Amino acid sequence: MREFGGKTAVVTGAASGVGRALGRRFGQAGMRVVLADVESAALERTTAELRSEGLDVTGVVTDVTRYDSVTALARHTFDTYGAVHLLCNNAGVGTNELHTMLWQSAASDWRWVLAVNVWGVLHGIKAFVPTMLEHGEEGHVVNTSSGNGGLFPLPMTPIYATSKAAVTTISEVLHYQLQMVGAKLKASVLFPGPHTVNTNIFQSARNRPAEFAPESTPAPAPTLEDLRAMMESAGRAFQVTQPGEVAEYTLAALRRDQFWIVPPSAESDARVRERMESILARRDPVLHLW
Ligand SMILES: NC(=O)c1ccc[n+]([C@@H]2O[C@H](COP(=O)([O-])OP(=O)(O)OC[C@H]3O[C@@H](n4cnc5c(N)ncnc54)[C@H](O)[C@@H]3O)[C@@H](O)[C@H]2O)c1
Repeated sequence: MREFGGKTAVVTGAASGVGRALGRRFGQAGMRVVLADVESAALERTTAELRSEGLDVTGVVTDVTRYDSVTALARHTFDTYGAVHLLCNNAGVGTNELHTMLWQSAASDWRWVLAVNVWGVLHGIKAFVPTMLEHGEEGHVVNTSSGNGGLFPLPMTPIYATSKAAVTTISEVLHYQLQMVGAKLKASVLFPGPHTVNTNIFQSARNRPAEFAPESTPAPAPTLEDLRAMMESAGRAFQVTQPGEVAEYTLAALRRDQFWIVPPSAESDARVRERMESILARRDPVLHLW
């Protein structure tokens, strides 16, 4: 996508963190932005805040785990604006499972995280892409993955890592399939970072629906300071990325129609290389806790 002015973007998980920053940046680039989120009070606040900055945004309460909710979002957006040029399937959650063994993991945690992180992305693709293809205009679908799982898994967060591996694979398949049908529509996969992004992801439980209620009392949400202590005790430096930085490099990558929206990081690149080389050499992968 070269031109953003006057075009329409939809961002899920837009009331907070990375989604809010994407909505703001797309609005600043002249887009009309539909902010979708399950947390209505936060969505109202974000919509009002971005409007007060002079941006053309509207908020639509949407639960990405429910296909009927995402199709209602699509219907509303197409009816209001005629077309959608940029769809960001960004809503995502994590449990506070910082030390979960697979064999002790809770089914309700799997169901919730996969419902938001994987089904949410699929629902977005199924509800929007057919009409975006029919319109035949240039456009972009961006799915938010994570370095954790999307590039290489961190062993202590198996559920989140598994969900993000799926998001990367769905995005790659979408990229190939859009080419197979000769579409002007492109796909990208976004990796927020390169460090922990300063968002509310560790408070994800605030939006956990009753149907996915935890089986036992969940671990308390770690603060950034807890994460810092954990990483430093493992001999690793702890740094933070601001959501605005993620939005900035996302917009720049979209201008280049770039599929892999991965921020520069020598550390992450070395891990990806090590993983790929272990596959090619049929060598066992090496354990890294972080
Ligand atoms: N924060 C990080 O370090 C980091 C790193 C890599 C990837 N990510 C990914 O970035 C994306 C955004 O997360 P964030 O860090 O901004 O967290 P965040 O908690 O600040 O924002 C996530 C938003 O998603 C919304 N949401 C949750 N469940 C939803 C549902 N069922 N339907 C619609 N919206 C729902 C929340 O209400 C919230 O507004 C996620 O996909 C996350 O996995 C974050």
